[in-house]
Amino acid sequence: MPLREKGGKYGLANGGRLMAKLAPRFLIQIRIPMAQFGTVFCDHMTIARFENGSWGEAAMQPLAPLPLHPASHVFHYASTCFEGFKAYRWQDGKARIFRLHDHVARMQRSAKSLYLPIPDADLLVGMVEDLVRKQIDDIPQPPSSLYLRPTLIGTLPNIGAAAAPSTEATLFVLASPVGDYFAGGARPLKLLVADTFARSTEQLGSTKTGGNYAAALGPTLDAKEKYGVDQVLFCPGGDVQETGAANFLLISDEEIITKPLNTSFLHGMTRASILTLARDLGYRISERDFTVAELFEWVPTYEAALSGTAATLTPVGTLVYNGEEIPVRDGNAGPNTDKLRKALQAIQYGDAPDTHGWLTEVSL
Ligand code: COI
Repeated sequence: MPLREKGGKYGLANGGRLMAKLAPRFLIQIRIPMAQFGTVFCDHMTIARFENGSWGEAAMQPLAPLPLHPASHVFHYASTCFEGFKAYRWQDGKARIFRLHDHVARMQRSAKSLYLPIPDADLLVGMVEDLVRKQIDDIPQPPSSLYLRPTLIGTLPNIGAAAAPSTEATLFVLASPVGDYFAGGARPLKLLVADTFARSTEQLGSTKTGGNYAAALGPTLDAKEKYGVDQVLFCPGGDVQETGAANFLLISDEEIITKPLNTSFLHGMTRASILTLARDLGYRISERDFTVAELFEWVPTYEAALSGTAATLTPVGTLVYNGEEIPVRDGNAGPNTDKLRKALQAIQYGDAPDTHGWLTEVSL
């Protein structure tokens, strides 16, 4: 597998194994750590454009900057949404994409809420599958994976269109070999409980749009600097919602408590998968609103965790509130979080049957 040099960074495939050919008969493998999440890209992308009322054909092209008019709608009025999901390389050498069709459906919902041209499901599925097929040798071995990032942007060149939709758009898919999202792997995270900020708005919280991440950025950077936390748990008016990049769950030996779906927060596919697996394992699922006060009643006995494609299921060990550090149970990763993460990963890695039909095999 070639190394690819791009803007000073290079892509490295095969699960962090550097394949160095010394001589025709000797092939050595050296294990080196994966690059920081999201900083290394495969050397191809797929792209399609919406113009004159319809989607054109998708193309495979070398990864390259996009030529965009500086008046493009996205630059001025933030008409953009994206998805994030993973393909895994199994022992049989084939790739499986996790919940591809559900992610495509979520992107269609995001596009609809932003009045962007809605990508045809078959078009986007094909773009993802073609890219995974093309870059199959770049998929690292589990626990690493190939992160896929379909992105839709409004390209109408009209700075007067502040209150009008972008009737032109570009859809592209990037692929990036990734390891852990949070530095340090599945270590227990520290969160600031912020009851003054919302991560998003009532109408756009469940839309996967860049503006929501922009809104979370300031409070998150501030909290990192002031309290040394990993993330902020946004709890506007005391309503426990989610962090900037993941959903929030409380877990005991019998029960999972998490917020019920509404438009104020992102409907995570990992959240949905964990709840389904937990139900299979006999946990009671309590999708209910809860307050910061209730959260602090529960954390002496409940585990807390963040769920997301990037985060998988990462334990939370400490909450910071009003300048005080409050441990979640004993501050360590809990057994239920570990059990549920492993149950999910067993399916993703091909070690357990895919009883819910979540995986799409990419034929070679
Ligand atoms: C994901 O989990 O896929 C996300 O989109 C979060 C992102 C901040 C990496």
